[in-house]
Amino acid sequence: MDPDRFFTVRYFIVLIACIVIVCDGQTENYRLPRDLMPMHYDLTILSDVKEPEFKFNGRVTIHLLCLKETPHLVLHMNNLTLDHSGITRLVKYGVDNPSQELTPVHPVTHKYDVENEIYTATFGTPFIYNQEYTVEIAFDGVLNEGLSGFYRSSYTNKETNATEWLATTQFESIDARRAFPCFDEPAMKSTFTISLGHPKKLTSISNMPLERSEDISTKPGWVLDVFQKSVPMSTYLVAFIISDFTFRQSNTSNPDLSRVQFRTWARRDVIDQVDFAAEAGPEFLNFFERYFNIRYPLPKQDMVAIPDFSAGAMENWGLITYRESALLFDDVRSSIHNEYSIANTIAHELAHQWFGNLVTMKWWTDLWLNEGFATYMAAQALNDRYNRPGSKHSWKLLDGEALSNVLLIFPLDSLSSSHPVSVPIGNPSEIAQIFDAISYKKGSFLIRMMNSFLSGKVFQQGVSNYLNKYQYRNAEQDDLWESLTEAGHRSKVLPQNLTVKEIMDSWTLQTGYPIVDVTREYGKGGKIVRFSQRRFLALPNLKKEDSSQCWWIPITLMTSKSADFSDSKPIWLPCDQQKSAGKQADQHDIISNEKMELREEMGESDWLIVNKQMTALARFNYDDNNWDLITRQLHSNHSRIPTLNRVQVILDVMELSKYNVLKYSKAFDLIEYIYKEREYLPWKAALNTLYSLDDLLKRTGQPYEYFRAYVRNLLAEQFSIQPQLRDSLEGYEERLHKTQMYSAACHFGLPECEERVQAEYKAWKSSRDLNAYVIPADMMYLTYCEQVKKSSQEEWNFLYNRYLHADTPSEKINLLRALGCSKDPSILKNYLSLAFDNPEREVRTQDLSTLFASVAHNPAGYQVAKDYLYGNVDKIYTLYGPKNQQIVKYLSQISSKIITEDELREFNEVKSKYYDKYLKQSQILLQQAEENPMINLQWHRHNFEFVSQLLDEKQFQVPKAN
Ligand code: BES
Ligand code: ZN
Repeated sequence: MDPDRFFTVRYFIVLIACIVIVCDGQTENYRLPRDLMPMHYDLTILSDVKEPEFKFNGRVTIHLLCLKETPHLVLHMNNLTLDHSGITRLVKYGVDNPSQELTPVHPVTHKYDVENEIYTATFGTPFIYNQEYTVEIAFDGVLNEGLSGFYRSSYTNKETNATEWLATTQFESIDARRAFPCFDEPAMKSTFTISLGHPKKLTSISNMPLERSEDISTKPGWVLDVFQKSVPMSTYLVAFIISDFTFRQSNTSNPDLSRVQFRTWARRDVIDQVDFAAEAGPEFLNFFERYFNIRYPLPKQDMVAIPDFSAGAMENWGLITYRESALLFDDVRSSIHNEYSIANTIAHELAHQWFGNLVTMKWWTDLWLNEGFATYMAAQALNDRYNRPGSKHSWKLLDGEALSNVLLIFPLDSLSSSHPVSVPIGNPSEIAQIFDAISYKKGSFLIRMMNSFLSGKVFQQGVSNYLNKYQYRNAEQDDLWESLTEAGHRSKVLPQNLTVKEIMDSWTLQTGYPIVDVTREYGKGGKIVRFSQRRFLALPNLKKEDSSQCWWIPITLMTSKSADFSDSKPIWLPCDQQKSAGKQADQHDIISNEKMELREEMGESDWLIVNKQMTALARFNYDDNNWDLITRQLHSNHSRIPTLNRVQVILDVMELSKYNVLKYSKAFDLIEYIYKEREYLPWKAALNTLYSLDDLLKRTGQPYEYFRAYVRNLLAEQFSIQPQLRDSLEGYEERLHKTQMYSAACHFGLPECEERVQAEYKAWKSSRDLNAYVIPADMMYLTYCEQVKKSSQEEWNFLYNRYLHADTPSEKINLLRALGCSKDPSILKNYLSLAFDNPEREVRTQDLSTLFASVAHNPAGYQVAKDYLYGNVDKIYTLYGPKNQQIVKYLSQISSKIITEDELREFNEVKSKYYDKYLKQSQILLQQAEENPMINLQWHRHNFEFVSQLLDEKQFQVPKAN
């Protein structure tokens, strides 16, 4: 098309919105009718990416097929200005033309529904069934300052000190409509031909490779880049960028990999930090090709580090965008945690190229099919990279992933206000709220459970069949269940009278997870075991318990006599009474009457642990005697119990005490074995439960001091065997462990830790060149944080200045968080106002919530953060642009740490005050933010006295083995 026409359109008519009032609860107004189906978009967008207007002009030609006669063209659109006179409809050339429309026709009326972001053009004659049309629409827009739609971002060029601008997109979930009018629903897939016009000194990239560039005759110095036609895809995956970035191309000798041109982009000043991504990216892509047995279908993949970015990364097909800190890696300044999270993010987005891009959920209800799978598959790809056969150090990476997942799932999913994995979406505002631990982590953990009960091979086959069957189309969870059931039955790993749907619906359609009571009958040698299940709720009184709730739970057992601790075929604790009583065929696969007799040799003094490898998502509670047997084993020889089951009993015993199912004295008896533990994962589990107690005791004075002393005792021995701060370690897991032990030791105040860290800071400060002497990356955050705790405003200013000028995103984030560690409220107050109020805006909007969280989490900063937030709700809301959910996330930072009735009252007042204005649209998140403080108060009512007393007695005891 002729770009000239952009600028000859004279009559821009600002669309006057016809506001359609939408009542609460009325659904579907935001869904498009299915009368017209898009088949192809020709989209051209021109922008100079320049101050002060930051304008763009666009024209889209949509090729449509009419599925049902209608006079209405109904499209999504938001914040665009249309040229009404330029909207035309044409019957597609070459198609039989019963309507006799040979010349373009214009709509007779226009309507815009602001609330639902829907534009309707009505024509004098209808679109006719089975006829193809093209509609052409010209529009104008502004590169916005928010971080969604087609937006602008900037950075300072180090050499010239000038501000450079770029234009980029973020469309998921429903913001493609902010860049061009479109059918903005995941199931309305279509092909795209994208053209971008811009000044020649800038470069443009999009989903597909460049086809050709041509001069724009009316705009000297401009070029129009035309990209190849895409594969059929959803609108939320479209992407384009106009910038002055540069790239590194991955080179590989692997012929499988060289088929796809792989480039990693960043601004010039940090281009040296893309090498890690450029190496890992093709490797992961190849892993997924092999795992899914489907080739990556595009000829290229670009990955770009964007200076201003709202999420961590976005899987746009062939053009993945990242926050700088999620992509850029520096050999000396990035820590093991940075490396893990960068590799994980890259693998996650590449996994989406299959799960999400090739096969897409029908509707946002099944977002978990995207996010749960990408999360699960990323861990598989990382494990492949970091646990190569022959490598010297083993890293229990998949077990670690399982642990990180449950640590986030358990607390959220024990709330009444949690939601099912597959969640009905009643309103578009709910879509953004389900990008949470339920969709990602619970989704991933449940996939891991399927992989375990189907076996890796059968699961992989089922997944591959599913992707092949639905490629370039959309699917829902039932479609996946079907493919997996088929694979499961064919290979006989799944009992014939059971389907994956029957099992999995109990996990994905219901909110929550079970607590399973395991009770042994000791009279008969402890071999008879009874099981019963119910939902685990943090606040049982809040919601009337639904006693019919149950789950299909795969049960596996081990005892002190077991030889084999690896995965084994489960016996099912059923959710369907009839099935357990009636069916004969696979009787021994399903527990009948919720009671079973162990076949293994075992006696009354042998312990029993359920849930090998932590496969099922459930809490397990035993009778007191069995708990004592487990505790005794841990103290005498903990390595008899496999790592992940040590993890599970630690978490269960501590959390069941927190929620009054068990006595704290039992929990402490068990967890005290930890002083002898040398492994990363059990320590990670133990520290997590201790940090959660720390949050409850933090601002309680003396009891908190008892608690700190108690934990110092538990830590001392294991800390003393950690290498010196500057000693480097080879193994990844050893590095992770060292980092967590140093952090904990310093957090709880072990003098030796504080001394080592102080000495390191001093050594750095007194070195000749502050940029040449590097604090070991794994210890960098801790070192800065410990120093800030003791620092005056002057030293703080020095570090703030380092923050402003740091050019490694990893280091920058470390400094940003460490600056919130101060113990001086006035320094912290100053920090918040520097970040939020300063018109210079030296901290990017994308980083403000991290900064705020670091202050709120600091016991000395809680009050400061709370007061700042309560006094600045309007300001913070506005920072994030229209309809954002950020403000509720800030509020939950505060509410989750409330421990008194007064604090709760104050929170509720703020909530009421802003409810209508800002909070109503974030119901799910808000309810979660309200439920957490009630849990804290419940704990204080029931446990505070008892625990304080217990800790008072324990603080000077060094735990002893029995
Ligand atoms: N699809 C998401 C990006 C996204 C998140 C879009 C929220 C819209 C709303 C992407 O695949 C993603 O999940 N990114 C994660 C990183 C990942 C490693 C967990 C993120 O942004 O945190
Ligand atoms: Zn994702």
